[in-house]
This record gives sequence, C-alpha cells and structure tokens, in this order.
Amino acid sequence: MKTIFSGIQPSGQITLGNYIGALKQFVELQNEYNCYFCIVDQHAITVPQERLELRKNIRSLAALYLAVGINPDKATLFIQSEVPAHAQAGWMMQCISYIGELERMTQFKDKSAGKDAVSAALLTYPPLMVADILLYNTDLVPVGEDQKQHLELTRDLAERFNKKYNDIFTIPEVSIPKVGARIMSLQDPTKKMSKSDANNKASIRLLDDLKQIEKKIKSAVTDSEGIVKYDQANKPGVSNLLSIYSIFSGKTISEIESIYEGKGYGDFKSDLAEVVINEIKPIQERYHELMESSELDEILDRGAEKAQVVANKMLKKMENAMGLGRKRN
Ligand code: TYM
Repeated sequence: MKTIFSGIQPSGQITLGNYIGALKQFVELQNEYNCYFCIVDQHAITVPQERLELRKNIRSLAALYLAVGINPDKATLFIQSEVPAHAQAGWMMQCISYIGELERMTQFKDKSAGKDAVSAALLTYPPLMVADILLYNTDLVPVGEDQKQHLELTRDLAERFNKKYNDIFTIPEVSIPKVGARIMSLQDPTKKMSKSDANNKASIRLLDDLKQIEKKIKSAVTDSEGIVKYDQANKPGVSNLLSIYSIFSGKTISEIESIYEGKGYGDFKSDLAEVVINEIKPIQERYHELMESSELDEILDRGAEKAQVVANKMLKKMENAMGLGRKRN
C-alpha cells in the first residue's frame, strides 16, 4: 500500500477552502492508501498565536478531521509537536536548504509583505514541511494549489539529500484536486479564501452558524451580467461559486450552467447555499459530539505513538547518513 502524508495548520477556523482542497480529498484517499494526517501546530507558531486559542484550535481541528469522515482505524491522526522527530528532521532539512530558494517561496513573500518584524521561522518553515513529508516514506501528498511550490521544494531537497548523503528518501508526488484546487474569497474572488482573512464575510468556516453560511453565500461578490457561466478571467466570482457548487453537488460545471440558463444569480445562490449546508450540517453535529467525548484524546495518543515509530526510524537513517551522534542501527 502506498503512503500519504498531509497536514493542516491549527492557525484559525478551518475554511471551505481547506475542506475542498484538503479534507475532502483525504476522506476519499484513506481507503486506498496508508495515510498520515497531521495537525501541524509547530507551523502555526511561525506567526504569533495566543496560547489558549492555539490549544483550542488544535483540539477543534482534530475533531473536525474525524467529523468530516477520517477513520482513525484506517488513517493515523496526530499532532506534530507530539512527535519530536519532525522538529529534529526539520533542522537537518534547514541545513541543506539555501536562503535564496526559501526567499523565493510565494507564501513567505505574501506572509512577510509589509511587516516590520518577521520571524526567522516564517522563512525556514518550508524545510519543516519537507521533513513532515519525508519522515514517512511518503508517495503522495494531497494539498490545495497554494502548496504546490512547497512540494516542488520537497522533491528538490529529497533529491539533494539522496545525492549528497545516502539514497534514503522516497520522492513524493503531489495530488491537487481537478476542481476546487484554489477556492477564492467570497468578497474578493481574485484572492484565495484564507483562515486568516480579517473580513469575516470573505471565508465560509466549516463551523460557521448555518444561517451565517447562507448569508455569506448570498452576499458573495459576482458581477452585473446575471449569467451563470464559468469564465475564470472575466467572471471570477461566479466561476468560484460554480466550482463550489460542482464539488458539493457532484454535478459537472456545464450541467450546472444549463440548469441556471435564463435564471439570475438569486436562484443559483439559494440552491448553492442549500447544497453546502446539507453537507456541512451533519459534519457540525458529529463535531460537537466528538468535542465532548474522551475518544478524541485516545485517538490522538494512539496516532502519536504510531507516527513516532515510523518517524524515528527515518530520523535515525537521516542522522546516520549525515554522521550525527554515534553509529546506531
Ligand atoms: P494550510 O493549513 O494553510 O492549509 C491546509 C490545506 O488546505 C489547502 N487550502 C486550500 N485549498 C483550496 N482552496 C483554498 N482557498 C485553500 N486554502 C488552503 C492547502 O493547500 C492545504 O492543503 N504548509 C501547509 C501545512 C503543512 C503540510 C505539511 C501540508 C505542513 N506540513 C506536509 C502537506 C504536507 C499549510 O500551511 O496548509
């Protein structure tokens, strides 16, 4: 069985973008792959976090993974900071990275733009992500499009390490969904929908009140043409809503276009809100049950134990390859 690794930062409320770009793929893939799904809390602290808020977000993200359908008997779910090999391997990966290539990462450029003080870790965050992936002999990494560049770096660093030290890493492939790889902001459809958007109306959060979700969809920015048609360049707002509709309804974009031929955006948005809410409602119900049960801690304990065994084996291989410490088997 081939191996999958992916992670989500507990750095805010999980959005529809995270659901479509990542979580929904995970649920489908868990039946065919040996999966590791991680709550990457060490990535979250590359920008300031409020301590109690972070703790709450970690737990909430764990419950959401399960609520959307991750089965802990099939997949290993764990918290990054509970498996110390990640930080250790991350350091080694930093040592073989060049500052120039890290400065070229568009996420670093976006997150540091206009800031007076930027943590060093914001720059060196991609090598930690590389370590996350390589520790598990990962074959495939399902992510949204915004992570593609980090995955290219992962392949480069794995090859660099294999060539320079010892051929120990599997070179992973990236898996990006065909529709919904980049869900856009509902208020500015030229920008990615993001957990950290200050405008609350811009992002649908999986845990938003259902009435709020309906309101946000109905007030999504479109255009004045009144034609439901996919045209990314000229109608980014409508195109984004069409992608979301297609994913939630299972219908193709052209099927949806023909349903709304001659109708305005009002009907289209109402129906879209309905399909989205129908899928999110049971997720929210399961989420609240899980948050109150002790099951969550047991699953995370088991996950960290399982992940640790695999990660420590690779960490030893890495240390041996680089000559750290004393020779061990
Ligand atoms: P993060 O936490 O920003 O996002 C988690 C996942 O959601 C996807 N995503 C989106 N997909 C479609 N449309 C959007 N608007 C959208 N916004 C986010 C992301 O592509 C991602 O798949 N660096 C990573 C976390 C990470 C990781 C890893 C991922 C750390 N280690 C190892 C994979 C493998 C991040 O910040 O994701």
